[in-house]
Amino acid sequence: MVSGNWFSGEALATHLGLTRAAVWKRIRRLRELGYAIEAEKGRGYRLMAFSDRLLPEEIRRSSQARRFASHLHTFEEVDSTSVVAARLAREGAPEGTAVLAERQTAGRGRFGRSWSSPSHKNLYLSLVLRPDLAPTSVAQITLVAAVAVARAIVAAAPELDPRIKWPNDLLLGERKTAGILTELDAEVDRVRFVVLGIGVNLNAEVEDFPQELRDKATSLKLCCGRDIQRAAFTGRLLGELESLYEEFLRAGFVALRAEYEGRHGYVGRRVRVSGAGDPSGVVRGIDDSGALLLETADGVRRIVAGEVTLEGNYAA
Ligand code: BTN
Repeated sequence: MVSGNWFSGEALATHLGLTRAAVWKRIRRLRELGYAIEAEKGRGYRLMAFSDRLLPEEIRRSSQARRFASHLHTFEEVDSTSVVAARLAREGAPEGTAVLAERQTAGRGRFGRSWSSPSHKNLYLSLVLRPDLAPTSVAQITLVAAVAVARAIVAAAPELDPRIKWPNDLLLGERKTAGILTELDAEVDRVRFVVLGIGVNLNAEVEDFPQELRDKATSLKLCCGRDIQRAAFTGRLLGELESLYEEFLRAGFVALRAEYEGRHGYVGRRVRVSGAGDPSGVVRGIDDSGALLLETADGVRRIVAGEVTLEGNYAA
């Protein structure tokens, strides 16, 4: 709640150079957009709460981002923000173009899974990136994004301690609260564009998750007990993404490794990694390139891709 000052219709009309009727029309439109505006005869209007819709103005108001907040495309409903972002990228959209939606009808996860995308509860964001990188380095962007999401979670709810499940899941406790899907359009040695898709469960309630996810997924709200301002969260996340991405391009992943390691959730735990022969072993950290270091019976292996699943309890 902001509980702003009262402004008479007449003062607003003079200030804005509008008729009283036009002022009223605008107030009605702002209310439709989700702003809570009180009206009282003899006093005028006052703003009680900003809209929490993902409106570009609200996102920018809370963002330090420049490039990543300058081409915002917001939708009520899309199939997948990443599909829309890829289309915009093919049409020439600049780096930093961001696509957001209040709901997705075909949200995509990694490994061909779907991403549960209830309406007006969470964040579904896809960013167009055009990094001057070898295609083989693009996977590191996922790790950069995981650090940015962790920072945005802590900024919104400082009592939470998000942990990264390598490479790119964000966990609160043992449950997943955010996922990242990095998709690449490239020639053998040249990146055309990358679509960085990020889903964060912000205000989802237990019943918003499909039955099969209820013991695996969570949201910030379920963990901290209060509503998260989605537009403010988005603005903050775009700012963190922009600054970490720029640092990554300038100095390489090694510059962000320590922060990633500080949030790495499974260090010391026994896991199995699907793909690459499904090795199992104890997570020992990551290396300078972001590869997972897994101590197996045959020594420490570098794992560059795959999905990690916990096998048991803490190992030595
Ligand atoms: C995963 O953990 O499997 C990755 C999930 C990525 C979900 C986001 S939501 C915004 C963007 N649009 C999609 O269709 N997927 C990503």
